[in-house]
Amino acid sequence: VQPRDLTGRSIVISAGGTREALDPVRFIGNRSSGRQGVALAEVAVARGASVTLIAANLEVAAPASVTVRQVSSAAELKSVVDEAARGADVVIMAAAVADYRPEDVAPSKIKKDQQGDELSLRLVKNPDILAGLAATNRADRVVIGFAAETETDREEFLRLGREKIARKGCDYLVLNRVGWSEGFATDGNSIVVLDRAGDIVSEASGSKASVAGHILDLLV
Ligand code: C5P
Repeated sequence: VQPRDLTGRSIVISAGGTREALDPVRFIGNRSSGRQGVALAEVAVARGASVTLIAANLEVAAPASVTVRQVSSAAELKSVVDEAARGADVVIMAAAVADYRPEDVAPSKIKKDQQGDELSLRLVKNPDILAGLAATNRADRVVIGFAAETETDREEFLRLGREKIARKGCDYLVLNRVGWSEGFATDGNSIVVLDRAGDIVSEASGSKASVAGHILDLLV
């Protein structure tokens, strides 16, 4: 049984991974499954929060009793997050957002017989949704970012996290290690949470549901 300690709180959670279209049938994507964001939504609802889940190409089903807004690209994710965040007490950016998108989206399928042996893509930077929210944050709203890093050395991993929270300006940063076989699409997770000062405020390992519980405990 979960405590009902988030009753009356409105929480916006982004989950999954964005897809940046190349043409009507192809995209550039990433391996985020959305499991950690969905686990956060599930546990937050069980603890009494009203949750809006902004779902970017989830590999798992969204939980019942959450408002789901489907998005695909980083641009769509940004417009829905910015709108939903206005009335929220908490915004958790668990989605893996593409840093770059193709500059041009071909109106019809790109054909290899018209391209020859090489195809160059020009990518342009997407806006940073998390940094934008943090820059315009209110005193009564908490903004939490995620950072997936492949770095294996703990000190270097923490240094990257400290640099990232300083750059993003969010209230907390949930750091987790990802690789070919960890993080994305797995059932477990291992996290370190940093505050604005770069200090470790929580560490947890276990199922994505138990890790979600730790993150929500911090908020409470
Ligand atoms: O810089 P990096 O992509 O590692 O930062 C990860 C955090 O920033 C995540 O919380 C992710 O949702 C968010 N992000 C964003 N907009 C981007 C890129 C990342 O909000 N364009």
